[in-house]
Amino acid sequence: MSNVDYSELIPNNVDLAADRKLKRALESWHPKFMDWWTQQGPVQYQDKEVYLRTAISVDKQGWAHFDHVKMPDYRWGIFLAENDAEHRVINFGDHKGEPVWKEVPGEYRGPLRRLIVTQGDTEPASVEQQRRLAATAPSLIDMRNLFQVNVEEARHLWAMVYLLMAHFGRDGREEAEELLQRRSGDPDKPRILGAFNERTPDWLSFYMFTFFTDRDGKYQLASLAESAFDPLARTCQFMLTEEAHHMYVGETGVARVIQKACDIMREHKTDDVRKFGAIDLPTIQKYVNFHFSVSEDLFGSEISTNAANYFTQGLKGRYLESRIKDDHQLKSDPYSITQWRDGAISQIEVPALTAINERLRDDYIVDCQRGVDRWNKIIADAGIDFTIKLPHRAFHRAIGQFSGAPVTPEGRIIDAATFAARQDEWLPNQADHEYVQSLMEQVTEPGRYARWIAPPRLGINNQPIDFPYVRM
Ligand SMILES: [Fe+2]
Ligand SMILES: [Fe+2]
Repeated sequence: MSNVDYSELIPNNVDLAADRKLKRALESWHPKFMDWWTQQGPVQYQDKEVYLRTAISVDKQGWAHFDHVKMPDYRWGIFLAENDAEHRVINFGDHKGEPVWKEVPGEYRGPLRRLIVTQGDTEPASVEQQRRLAATAPSLIDMRNLFQVNVEEARHLWAMVYLLMAHFGRDGREEAEELLQRRSGDPDKPRILGAFNERTPDWLSFYMFTFFTDRDGKYQLASLAESAFDPLARTCQFMLTEEAHHMYVGETGVARVIQKACDIMREHKTDDVRKFGAIDLPTIQKYVNFHFSVSEDLFGSEISTNAANYFTQGLKGRYLESRIKDDHQLKSDPYSITQWRDGAISQIEVPALTAINERLRDDYIVDCQRGVDRWNKIIADAGIDFTIKLPHRAFHRAIGQFSGAPVTPEGRIIDAATFAARQDEWLPNQADHEYVQSLMEQVTEPGRYARWIAPPRLGINNQPIDFPYVRM
C-alpha cells in the first residue's frame, strides 16, 4: 500500500486498478479537471518548467520528489496515509472504542458528504483566487512557491473527489462535477465559504492568506483526521503534510516583508518606509486584522449543534483528540467561551459538546499567535518599538454571535457609527490597497527580489536561493 502506482493515469496508493468502476469514474472526471485547471489555474506559465515537489509515497521520510515539471504535467494523485493500525478504533463520541469504519454508515451519509464537499470546495477556490499572482511575483522562488501551493490545492481537490466517488455513489459523482462548477467570487455560483470568495489581489494578501486561511485548513484537516470514517481520516492526515509548506510560505513571506520594512526604518532612521517603496508596519497590521478575522469566521458559530452532532457521531473530532485528557464524549463537561450579550463581551460556561467549533478556533488562535510572536521578534531584533497584534476575536466578524458587533481590534465596544467611521484605521482601505498594488512588479531574474521584500533565508529543497526555480 505504501508505494504509489505511477503507471496509472491517476497515481495512487489505494489500489485503484482493482476497482474498475471507480477507476472509470475518476478517469472520466480527469479531463474535466484538466479543463478547469487550464481555465481557472494560473493564467501564465503553464508551459514553463517549475521546480515542483510531487508526492511519491506516504512515508514520513522521503515522501516528496523534486524536479522541474510543467504544471499541466504534474501528477495529481490520490494518497492516503499509511494504515498503521489495521485495528484502529474510534477515539471519541458515541462510537468510542468501536473499530473505525471502512465504509460510510448509511445514517451518516448526509453529514459526511457535507463535510467532505465543504472541505473539497476550498481547494479549487484558493487556486482561482490566486490565478493572476504570477504576473507580479516578487521573485522566481516566490513564483515557484505560488505554483507549488496551487498544484497541491488541486491535489487536495482530487483527494476529496476520490472520497466522494469511492463512497457516495451517484451523489458523490454529482458533487464532484459541482466542485468544478462553482467559482470563487462569482455572485451566481460562489464557493461555499466566505473567505474563499474574497479576492487575493496582491502578494501581501497571498502571504496573509497562506498564513491565516491555510492554517484554518490545517485545523479543519486535523479534526477530520480524527474521523471514524477511516478513508477520510487517512486522506486528511496526508494532506496535512503538504499543508505545512503552504503555511511556511505565508509565515516566511510576511516575515520578509517585515524584515524589509525594518531594514529601511533602521537604515534611513524613519517610519516612512513608503517613501522607499516598502510596506510599513501599520499597513501590515491592517492586513493581519483583515485576514485573521475572515479566517476566524471559517470555524463557524461558537455554539453549534451541527458541530456537537459531528462529534457525537464520530465524524469530526477535536484538534489532537487523543492527546486531550478527558473522556472524549463530553456528556457533561463545560467549556468557557467568550460571548456577546446585551451589547457586552463576557465569559460564560457552556456544555463543551456545543462549543466544539469555539474550541478549535481557540487552538487556531494560539497557533496564529506563535507565528505573530516570531514576526515580532524580527521587529524587536531590529530595535524597533512596534508590536503586531492579533485583533480581538470579536473584531470584524461576519459569522457567529459577534457578527456585525462594533468592536475595535483591542476589544473595546463602540457604537456602530463610530465603527463605520473608523474602519479605515483598522482594515486595509482603498489607499492601502492601491499603495500595495503599486509596488507589485514581476522580478524573474534568479536571486533578485522586488524592493518591498527581503530575500528568503533558505532555498527550496536545499537549493540555493538564486536557483532557477522557474525556467523562464
Ligand atoms: Fe488544501
Ligand atoms: Fe493549503
